[in-house]
Amino acid sequence: MNIYTWNALTQHQKYLAFSTLGSQDFVALIHPALVVAFVFPMIGIVTNFAWQTRQRRLESKKGKSKIPAVVGRDHVKIGKWLSTSVVVASLIAIAYSIVYKSFIKKNLWEKNNPQAILIILLFVATIASLILLLKAKPPLWKGIFATMTGMGLIILGQQDGVWRLSKEWYWSHYYYGIAVSLLMLFSIAIVDDIYRDRTNTWRNIHIGLNCFALLLFIGQGITGARDLLEIPVVGKKKPKKKAIIEQVDPIKTAQLSDVLYQAPDIIPTK
Ligand code: HEM
Ligand code: HEM
Repeated sequence: MNIYTWNALTQHQKYLAFSTLGSQDFVALIHPALVVAFVFPMIGIVTNFAWQTRQRRLESKKGKSKIPAVVGRDHVKIGKWLSTSVVVASLIAIAYSIVYKSFIKKNLWEKNNPQAILIILLFVATIASLILLLKAKPPLWKGIFATMTGMGLIILGQQDGVWRLSKEWYWSHYYYGIAVSLLMLFSIAIVDDIYRDRTNTWRNIHIGLNCFALLLFIGQGITGARDLLEIPVVGKKKPKKKAIIEQVDPIKTAQLSDVLYQAPDIIPTK
């Protein structure tokens, strides 16, 4: 075990951010970065409009509401963007795992060519179903395309390479991700039913399911951050020279403040 002096620990380190990451690591970061930068802010906007839509409806029952009528329309408009981005994020995440851990690492293309082609076709079919779901007008076709997109996600998620944490499904980032994607697809499929239903049954189902989706989104933030730390990164290049602080025994690093009091022991005067 190397012994580092306090001087060595505090001197300027020649350590550049990103320099120890390989190209695969950058690809691994695509969906977390997209989600943090775009999807989570969108969840806030959609939830805010959802709250106002509900307040407006309840206030309008008693009299005139001050909340403008557009809030409902805006909720649905950004809701569609949100649903699409969540499904796309899941597809990117699954594609990353399959490509790097199955196609490249396990040589799937050479070993089982038909399966590899089938996986690619399934990606194409899932993306096509999602596009058709967004374009479809009749409720029946919306239902069909939502089901097809959801099935595509589930089957792709079952492929080798995808980290599912099956036995611990209750805190699996994969299961949360697929569940929340299916809930988003369901929301798009039932938009017309929510508007048409005078008894508000579909509206209440929508509220219940999507409040649960909100909890899953929070879970995605927690389990995703955990997975970034826990899943070994496939492409990480072995750094030629690690940052000095990383080579120090963690316990020693934690005790640095104690060490400071014993300066004469670390930096010998002789
Ligand atoms: C974070 C996720 C979401 C939550 C928490 C949420 C919640 C809500 C709430 C509380 C309402 C008001 C219900 C009422 O009037 O009492 C609502 C309305 C509605 N939501 Fe969502 N929602 C979410 C996402 C979506 C998505 C993704 C879509 C579809 C693209 C959608 C479609 C609708 C529709 C069509 C209405 C009726 C709007 C109106 O009355 O004008 N929602 N939602
Ligand atoms: C709406 C939000 C999100 C959705 C729908 C989502 C979806 C998914 C899905 C379906 C997987 C596939 C499981 C796998 O291949 O291992 C996955 C993996 C992963 N996600 Fe997310 N994710 C979201 C947010 C995040 C966030 C915020 C982070 C990090 C801050 C994150 C980090 C990861 C990591 C590290 C993996 C594992 C990749 C690997 O297998 O090496 N995710 N995600």
